[in-house]
Amino acid sequence: EETAAGLIPPGAGLEELRKIASHCTACPLWERGTQTVFGEGLPDARLILVGEQPGDIEDRKGQPFVGPAGRVLDQALERAGIVRSDAYVTNVVKHFKWIALGKRRLHQKPNSREIGACLPWLDAEIALIKPLVLVAMGATAAQALFGSKVQVKRDHGRFLPTDRVPHAMVTTHPSAILRAPTDDERHYALDEFVADLRRVAAVLK
Ligand code: URA
Ligand code: SF4
Repeated sequence: EETAAGLIPPGAGLEELRKIASHCTACPLWERGTQTVFGEGLPDARLILVGEQPGDIEDRKGQPFVGPAGRVLDQALERAGIVRSDAYVTNVVKHFKWIALGKRRLHQKPNSREIGACLPWLDAEIALIKPLVLVAMGATAAQALFGSKVQVKRDHGRFLPTDRVPHAMVTTHPSAILRAPTDDERHYALDEFVADLRRVAAVLK
């Protein structure tokens, strides 16, 4: 089964990887997306934040978390005392997967083949950046990095063992906060997200 692993030359740096990833066709998602949305941030960041896949706006701009979910992330990071530009922000899957709904492009969850095909890019990012802390936001990132037994609702906010980095946590996805059905639930979900990120901030101190 094809994955991006075969595209990654030994010894390549982040900028070389970004360039190669821009031509990746390791899974069918490259045909639907406008462009590869590679990670962004400091090459020696102490914190890496991992989402699911670019959204509609990210797909157009070519940068991760610059749409509505990105605004929630920015707000939560600020409340937690984390400077976003000190972090490296990326996604498990680097192309936007969507179906047309009238004129809108509706987000679709990536499947396990697409996640497996794209994961070598994330692993290469992590291996080069060597962050102190990794935060997986939402079920797709959590399960891609920690296995299918991890549940965000149950396991968020604690540090979980992993070989990839010294400290790792799963937390909610900012888009899940946006989807909360009531104002109360949205505020509660955002507060929980901020509380998780404050634990991350404490490790970064
Ligand atoms: N949701 C994600 O998971 N990643 C983005 O970059 C934007 C929205
Ligand atoms: Fe390659 Fe990932 Fe895009 Fe699939 S989603 S084509 S594996 S960059």
